[in-house]
Amino acid sequence: MEGQIQRGLYIATFGCQMNEYDSKRMEEVLYPSFTPVASPEEADLILVNTCSIREKAEHKVYSLVGRFRALKEKRPGLIIGVGGCVAQQEGERLLKRLPFLDLVFGPQGIYGLGHAVKEIEEGRGPIVLTEMVDGFEIPPILRSMPTPSPIRAYVTIMQGCDNFCTYCVVPYVRGREVSRPKDDILKEVGTLVESGVKDITLLGQNVNSYGKKRGFSTSFAELLREVASITGLRRLRFTTSHPKDFTDDVIDAMAEGPPICDHLHLPVQSGSNRILKRMNRKYTRESYLEIIEKVKGLLPDVSLTTDVIVGFPGETDEDFKDTLSLLEEVEFDQIFSFKYSPRPFTKAAQYPDQVDEKVKSERLTQVIELQKSIGLRRLSRFEGRTVEVLVEGRNPSREGELVGRTTGNHVVNFEGPDELIGQTIELMVERACYHSLRARMR
Ligand code: 5AD
Ligand code: SF4
Repeated sequence: MEGQIQRGLYIATFGCQMNEYDSKRMEEVLYPSFTPVASPEEADLILVNTCSIREKAEHKVYSLVGRFRALKEKRPGLIIGVGGCVAQQEGERLLKRLPFLDLVFGPQGIYGLGHAVKEIEEGRGPIVLTEMVDGFEIPPILRSMPTPSPIRAYVTIMQGCDNFCTYCVVPYVRGREVSRPKDDILKEVGTLVESGVKDITLLGQNVNSYGKKRGFSTSFAELLREVASITGLRRLRFTTSHPKDFTDDVIDAMAEGPPICDHLHLPVQSGSNRILKRMNRKYTRESYLEIIEKVKGLLPDVSLTTDVIVGFPGETDEDFKDTLSLLEEVEFDQIFSFKYSPRPFTKAAQYPDQVDEKVKSERLTQVIELQKSIGLRRLSRFEGRTVEVLVEGRNPSREGELVGRTTGNHVVNFEGPDELIGQTIELMVERACYHSLRARMR
């Protein structure tokens, strides 16, 4: 079209689901001036959405951005920006380290991207957008993009965090907790479902405290029910829950069944009360186990997942054993385990009793080994059973196979025709693997 050149946008996303949501938002903000392309080589604008939760995640960013530099040498007009949590954390310092960057922007800077890119094109770069304001609201923009809708999507219901767990950088890079108005959330979910999305995950650093700080009359459990009543929505999930704020009414809402999924991700971090206290988690092993017992009581087939940190400062062999015994007691379907990584600004990074790297690695191996057998045992419960699977697409690693998910978020691989993509079907589980199920059509 005359006067309207569409340019290519390539976004590389690291880290959590919140970042995936933010990357979608970047696409929306920049559309229609920029439209997504499949590779960085085709792009006029490359954005890297970064994660700084652990040091390893941060390193990946530097190596990837380094590769994009070569593209810029060939094509000087190419604009390269770094966004997300590392950008927020490092700000101007990033420009010193990576002087070829045109743009550095934090999570709140996403909504100023359009303007910033224009400035850069007019020669006023580089630009740094890392100012954070308290009470920042995610604007309720929703430009429908002409790209095909995925089966699954995320919707942020709150951003930021007020908990200050002593290991965690999130409150410093994403600011204080702000819940989004219910109507914005309902509208956003409604639009996504209308466009074909079937499985929605509500996102927040601590979804259980939804609306409390702002005095909203809707609790998280009520929000779940309202979203669940949207016609056409097949599956509704939420993450992350915090054990200190997890209330029984959420279990009751879950027990009402579809579209609310039979899955709870409840990060425990450690099984030792002494370590939980030092982490500032504000719950105990006992109160955590009490929640699990209630959930299992009302939802006998529930799938439970958690996050675990090993080698937190001061963690002794005894403390670590408490984590192992908690894993045995709960029997999670899946866990995400991490070696403690000291982060900027955080209290625990200053603790004098840091654990030796070798000990951390040994403990991580032990946790992974233990969970392998627990996970396999848990997933075996499905063998010979019929499960309902929402088919998401082709299995990228095996030709002729489709991949889908159960309500418990278990990945299911099976042979079937493309027409099933987007449908919910019943499958017979033949075999449990460590992280997935193998099934066949009945
Ligand atoms: N080191 C290791 N793991 C961490 N996590 C958060 N901060 C750190 C850190 N400094 C883990 C927690 C959290 C998950 C998203 O990442 O387990 O639940
Ligand atoms: Fe980090 Fe704790 Fe907030 Fe989660 S609840 S984002 S672990 S500070």
